[in-house]
Amino acid sequence: MTQTNDRTVSVRGLTRRFGSNTVLHGLDLELEPGSFVALLGRSGSGKTTLLRTLAGLDAAPADAELRLPDAVAVVFQEPRLLPWKRVWNNVALGLPGSGVKGRAERALGEVGLAKHHEAWPATLSGGEAQRVALARALVREPRLLLLDEPFAALDALTRIRMHALVLDLWRAHGPTTLIVTHDVDEAVLLADRVLVLDAGRIAADIKVDIPRPRGHGDARFAALRRRLLSELGVEAEVIREAA
Ligand SMILES: Nc1ncnc2c1ncn2[C@@H]1O[C@H](COP(=O)(O)OP(=O)(O)O)[C@@H](O)[C@H]1O
Ligand SMILES: [Mg+2]
Repeated sequence: MTQTNDRTVSVRGLTRRFGSNTVLHGLDLELEPGSFVALLGRSGSGKTTLLRTLAGLDAAPADAELRLPDAVAVVFQEPRLLPWKRVWNNVALGLPGSGVKGRAERALGEVGLAKHHEAWPATLSGGEAQRVALARALVREPRLLLLDEPFAALDALTRIRMHALVLDLWRAHGPTTLIVTHDVDEAVLLADRVLVLDAGRIAADIKVDIPRPRGHGDARFAALRRRLLSELGVEAEVIREAA
């Protein structure tokens, strides 16, 4: 594994097995610096396994070639806040350097939580708690931002606000961003490029050439959505019904 101070991600020949279950099978992946990429795949297809390897949470197998930025941050589906630490302290947790409280407060301001620095996690809504998780990622100034179904547990309106926020943060800070989602609409709304993980490899790699802000009304949106659903093996009748 090579760590770099640019934002490129390059993976060659990544295989991950759990016992006899080969989850990633010689996977190759290149992410352009500063791009926003969505990763779709059926439940159990290995999306989280791939993210954990990119995040350095699982050791990379010796035979895989990985080039990863030195600063990587992850946001999970659950905000994972420590209930006995105030909001700012959750953001600042483990942060090296000086002036950590000020840096945490600035990050909280950026996610719209300027008034909640001193709050306890238990007093936050689900959307607010997830904003804290975003601030905690942001304050680390990641060159690679990994998001693992970060909005899946939120209600529809909160999710729409979070989409706008995450695009704003991406534009302002420019990390290479990889979001795992099982929501085709979310992938097409947010990403420049959508990947589909299947049978341990990237089975589809599709550029999203639709200007932002994107909406369901756009014919290109609907066409891409249909194509991705079919890549995911969703039957044509289901697609017609959902459309
Ligand atoms: N630590 C682990 N030990 C054993 N099996 C695992 C472990 N982590 C994941 N798996 C298995 O690997 C497969 C892929 O899991 P995961 O990456 O979580 O899928 P996804 O995020 O796409 O739903 C699943 O079959 C899962 O049961
Ligand atoms: Mg997962």
